[in-house]
Amino acid sequence: MGSNEGKHNLIIVSNRLPLSIKRVDGTYESSISSGGLVTALSGLTKSTQFRWLGWPGIEVKSNKDREEVSRTLNEHDATPIFLDSGLAHEHYNMFANRILWPILHYQSGVVFDDGPWQAYRRVNELFAAAIAEAAETGTLIWVHDYHLMLLPELLRNRLYEKNKHCAIGFSLHTPFPAGDFWRNLPVRKHLLEGLLSSDLIGFHTDEYKQNFQDTCAKIPNQIRYKNRLVCVGKFIVGIDPQKFAHTLQNPDVQDRIRSLEERYKDVKVIVGVDRLDHIKGLTQKLKGFDSFLEDYPELRDKIILIQVAVPSREDVKEYQELETELSTLAGKINGKYATPDGTPLLYMHRSVPFTELTALYSVADVCLLTSTRDGMNLVSFEFVACQEKRQGVLVLSEFAGAASFMREGSISFHPANTTEMSEALYAALKLDPDERRRKYEYLRDFVNTHTSAKWGQTFIEKLSQRCRQPGKAC
Ligand code: ADP
Ligand code: G6P
Repeated sequence: MGSNEGKHNLIIVSNRLPLSIKRVDGTYESSISSGGLVTALSGLTKSTQFRWLGWPGIEVKSNKDREEVSRTLNEHDATPIFLDSGLAHEHYNMFANRILWPILHYQSGVVFDDGPWQAYRRVNELFAAAIAEAAETGTLIWVHDYHLMLLPELLRNRLYEKNKHCAIGFSLHTPFPAGDFWRNLPVRKHLLEGLLSSDLIGFHTDEYKQNFQDTCAKIPNQIRYKNRLVCVGKFIVGIDPQKFAHTLQNPDVQDRIRSLEERYKDVKVIVGVDRLDHIKGLTQKLKGFDSFLEDYPELRDKIILIQVAVPSREDVKEYQELETELSTLAGKINGKYATPDGTPLLYMHRSVPFTELTALYSVADVCLLTSTRDGMNLVSFEFVACQEKRQGVLVLSEFAGAASFMREGSISFHPANTTEMSEALYAALKLDPDERRRKYEYLRDFVNTHTSAKWGQTFIEKLSQRCRQPGKAC
């Protein structure tokens, strides 16, 4: 994966691999996985070489089929860790996405269930066994995200048994909530202990890092646990802006941009791209947009909101219910405001190809992101990377991790306040050109400085120091 400037022997571990495998008509098909974690790690591949281990997203039973899936993934330097479908379902859908994910994002009403928790432990154990086998002394092991919070501890034990000395890093791609909320999870102590076997733990913002440290109730930046020093840091994740710049040069993308510009020449385009997930505040977005159309009737036929809701975690009941709610809301809004000349809302519940996504970002005048909580939100970075020409406006929820870095370059609002959202949209559409340019330049500089490559290299460098000098103060 990429040229090896990285001198390190590096293993990356995440639940989601860069390719997701599906079985269609008796054959295995792969597609690029969506989500910020894959985007950030894929952005690292140009500068850093690594092996990527994770779950292929599907149960594969026979040895012959496992070989086929492994071959496909190996072409992308990824190695599958196979899981039975029942176990994967309990781990991924029932614990990681129905219990842990909502708690990490401050959602109330989560019901703890011991069965899924046991599956979560089991999957973390299976991962630990596979990685301890793949690692050698000196390997840097970088574990990602909430699906694998027990892994650092289980892995450290396995490595110890095998007499392999490796440094273990962990990065969380979600918020880490305030201690009082985290307490809602009865197994929180086990998860913390799991994490604290890492040498280095990374969060996206100061707030998440602080919440974690407050929960561990220890001194800034370092925690002593079982007589080992654990370093904690903020590492700002980003994208690969050049990938977008190159894609925008592609003649087919240029054609597509021209055709979209022609299609929408009489209206301002507002774009939204989100996985279909509660934390993205899509219900709030549609309600806020409804308010906006109500508040500014003179703009109804002068704007369009193009909302891409990428299907996600479709086996989880809450995600299915959200999909039904959103399509009903979208239908209501269009029923209310559509005229024979058009509709103010274009709601797409599907995944769009990367080239189409790039063209869409590029023709938009405004990007509206309404997360109720969000680890970072890389869509905000991608919009900026595609706006060199148009210099559009980012309207960003104050609850996205990105808002703690982008406030000065964006228009910020509270996603539960429809009036605030409506006013923020209006302000974005009417923004003075000089102010728009100033804001855009601020964002562009931030996105170009905080790339995924820089994020990865900074983390790996720090982890490598921990490997060389585990006892040194952080
Ligand atoms: P999250 O990680 O919660 O989904 P982010 O905004 O951080 O939120 O990241 C979403 C990522 O998913 C972005 O990089 C976006 O480009 C990517 N994405 C969106 N649609 C698709 C798609 N159809 N295929 C692959 N990736 C996609
Ligand atoms: C978020 C999580 C990632 C996850 C992604 C997509 O970004 O932090 O760990 O991979 O969403 O979700 P999925 O469930 O499809 O992996």
